Amino acid sequence: MFETWWKECVVYQIYPRSFQDSNGDGIGDIPGIISRLDYLRWLGIGAIWLSPIYPSPMKDFGYDVSDYRDVDPVFGSLEDMDRLIAEAHERDIRVILDMVLNHTSDQHAWFLESSSSQDNPKSDFYIWKDRIPGNRKGLPNNWYACFGGRAWTFSPQRGQYYLHSFLAEQPDLNWRNDAVVEALFADIRFWLDKGIDGFRLDVINAIVKDETFRDNPRMIGPTPRPYDMQRHIFDRNRPEAHAKLRRFRKMVDEYEDRMLVGEIMVEAPGEPEKAASYLGDGTNELHLAFDFTLLSTKWNARAWRNVADRWYKAVPESGWPCWVLSNHDMPRAISRFGGDVGKAKLAAMFLLTQRGTPFIYYGEEIGMPDIKLPRSKFQDPLGKKYWPFHPGRDPERSPMQWDGTEYAGFSDTSPWLPLDTAHESLNVSSQMDNPASLLNFYHALLALRNHDSILRLGTHRFVSSSCDEVLTYVREFDGVRELILLNFGRKAAVCALSDAPTGSTMDLSAFRILFSTDGKTGGSMNLLDNGRCLLGAHQGLICRSDT
Ligand code: NOJ
Repeated sequence: MFETWWKECVVYQIYPRSFQDSNGDGIGDIPGIISRLDYLRWLGIGAIWLSPIYPSPMKDFGYDVSDYRDVDPVFGSLEDMDRLIAEAHERDIRVILDMVLNHTSDQHAWFLESSSSQDNPKSDFYIWKDRIPGNRKGLPNNWYACFGGRAWTFSPQRGQYYLHSFLAEQPDLNWRNDAVVEALFADIRFWLDKGIDGFRLDVINAIVKDETFRDNPRMIGPTPRPYDMQRHIFDRNRPEAHAKLRRFRKMVDEYEDRMLVGEIMVEAPGEPEKAASYLGDGTNELHLAFDFTLLSTKWNARAWRNVADRWYKAVPESGWPCWVLSNHDMPRAISRFGGDVGKAKLAAMFLLTQRGTPFIYYGEEIGMPDIKLPRSKFQDPLGKKYWPFHPGRDPERSPMQWDGTEYAGFSDTSPWLPLDTAHESLNVSSQMDNPASLLNFYHALLALRNHDSILRLGTHRFVSSSCDEVLTYVREFDGVRELILLNFGRKAAVCALSDAPTGSTMDLSAFRILFSTDGKTGGSMNLLDNGRCLLGAHQGLICRSDT
């Protein structure tokens, strides 16, 4: 449908365990996803990204892969994946897989072999180090694992430490070994040959470690977690990673129309310039990279503008931004907004009117909140280790709320994580019937974006608003302008706009309302004297001027 699908379509992240169960085991699966493709098509989604579906001991719920070329039986089979690809493509929906290339499971055949002795064909596939007599229990350096404890675990069988940036069951691969890179690329080709359209690359900025394993400098961190008390300059973001990604891009470019989007793990609250550096010159490394700064930015027009402005400036001229409000690792947007649907609509309007590829996390379109669950029900290793200081990531991974029945239409049995208690009223089915619902708002906004090349491809520039609470910008394509106004305030706001370079007050009379958070289209803006306009509380407008 679009010329460059990964620039123009809206991507929807599915956490497969929680989307749709088809076989009554309380865990979502691939046939379940297939059964919901028509819904996604209706919503206007152009691509789905599946969190990992490969065989895994599930210590980190699939982010510990034991075989890159198969599907875990809990999710289905390779035949199911073939069917998903075919059925999604039939509906003009692309399929993106999560690829976890920084580490494998400790049950991956490579690690079983590598850990068996110091002398085997895979001995150099992981990062092994001798004990250093006399210091810190002989640990090779001061690095910590993200999920607790030191980043080094001793293998008695092999008589050496191995490195793991996350759980001890997730040993880090040795990307300095060419045989590892070749083996991973072969696994990636396996999926490219099957017709997978792209990959979301897990912590891709961590793949190369410091050659001499220098200690990370200590710092006062945002949390007391030992991992957060270090600057990760030697275990992440090594300059050599860029050459690996250029090679990766070349390989993927052998196939037509494929895409790589990277998760770039940076210091809180965000380092957009670092994230953008993995786009290379905009054409030779990743196609897209995530900047997560917005996920921890307070609700404030100025703050959102600053974050967006910095991200736009960071992305290279020939590169392309992408935008995200929620994912499987962070509290959901609506919960950060205190459950306020007005804010959720405004945030959706922000997300879907930026220049760049928008990513939606499953359930975001109905305002699914984080669930509260007792500690006895915790599944996530992070929550188990760091509660109460970190609640873990279970709250944002609860089952999709399809309808108001006992198990929300997700399953016909008790699901692997509890359902949100409000699912009886907050669900897809009830929102479909309500024209003013968040779901119908998303649906209409996606339809607009999918038909409006200005929103998809137009240039973007901020314009100054005389009111601090109102964020305003112009998108422009082929001489046609669209003006977006977002009132972040709880009260009505009056503002005049001035556009660079003249700085003179913008004439708003030429603009007609194309889309509004209150459902009104057509007509002119609510204009007052002296070029000012009036916006309601949390009102957002998309307006077009043909002149
Ligand atoms: C980032 C993923 O998003 C997260 O869910 C996972 O636990 C870690 N990487 C380790 O793979």
